[in-house]
Amino acid sequence: MRVLGIESSCDETSAAVVMNGIQVRSHVVASSVAFHAKYGGVIPEIASRMQLETIVPVTDAALKQAGCALSDVGLVAVTDGPGLLGSLVVGVSFAKSLCQVLGIPLVGVDHLQGHVYSALLTDRVPFPFIGLVVSGGHTNLYAVKGFDRMQLIGSTLDDACGEAFDKVAKIIGLGYPGGPAIERAASFGDPHAIPFRCSTTRRPLDFSFSGIKTAVLYYAQRHLVRVRGIRKRRLLIRNIAASFQEAAVETLVNKAFTAVHAKRCRCLAIGGGVAANKRLRSAMLARARQEGVRAVFPAQEYCMDNAAMVAGLGYHLYTQGLRSDATLAPRL
Ligand code: KG4
Ligand code: ZN
Repeated sequence: MRVLGIESSCDETSAAVVMNGIQVRSHVVASSVAFHAKYGGVIPEIASRMQLETIVPVTDAALKQAGCALSDVGLVAVTDGPGLLGSLVVGVSFAKSLCQVLGIPLVGVDHLQGHVYSALLTDRVPFPFIGLVVSGGHTNLYAVKGFDRMQLIGSTLDDACGEAFDKVAKIIGLGYPGGPAIERAASFGDPHAIPFRCSTTRRPLDFSFSGIKTAVLYYAQRHLVRVRGIRKRRLLIRNIAASFQEAAVETLVNKAFTAVHAKRCRCLAIGGGVAANKRLRSAMLARARQEGVRAVFPAQEYCMDNAAMVAGLGYHLYTQGLRSDATLAPRL
């Protein structure tokens, strides 16, 4: 079955054609990130206006790349939340109209559960497994017993991990989006130069990233403003980036494996924008090897928001009997 996926929960507009939940025939993403960069974060109104303009051409491009017509599509899967209201309205309304006109079924997909599925587009993982989603808006741990049975077992109490990367990048002058910029600067820095730590949480599977962000802010106010000379300043920025990244990665790895032990799982799937981070990938895979656990990451192109993961998970939800109808509405 050819599934058309539609994703428009944040600043991206994406469409994909995926066969039987696994073979990605096409996946097209239009990002409005360049328009948000000067504001240092996503402006919802700009995002939804761009999505309104791009959703039809992006869908056309995905169908063309897949070598198929709308009449070949058997199911439409659309992200129905969580996300920005205006952005979700664009994708959900478009998907509902398509299904009504074509007379084909529709299924609403949770964006975060889509991120869990993204690693499964390229790798098979047996149930049960632990899902870790590290994105710009969420940091969630799931106990996954089936495609329609993802139980939330931990989440962030304050900032999301990607949000902390973005805010730390802003503090040390690296621009937006911060994740890739921090990773780049960190590759030249010393991860043990500054003893940053993430705050502990009362429940071991929850996360907290706002304390470390504030620690970076205070450190930058104390040291970065005083440093003299471009080379010394650059080195300090690189060391702050590397030390922050190392602390965030250590927390993600430790919490993921706490969940693996608590739920007695042997597999772990990681997704979301921060899953693109190479230090996170290498630390998680090293720990997995040590513990004899299988850890899978999405291909780089499926870490960030994309419709392939939505089409993939949507297919499995559909085969398990899930259907949405014209009353499908965005969930914040
Ligand atoms: O999943 P995503 O594309 O969008 C949301 O659903 O939020 O994630 C975006 C987040 C941003 O905060 C971005 O800074 C972060 O993922 N990110 C990274 C990297 N690439 C993107 N964080 C750390 N290292 C990266 N290489
Ligand atoms: Zn996302």
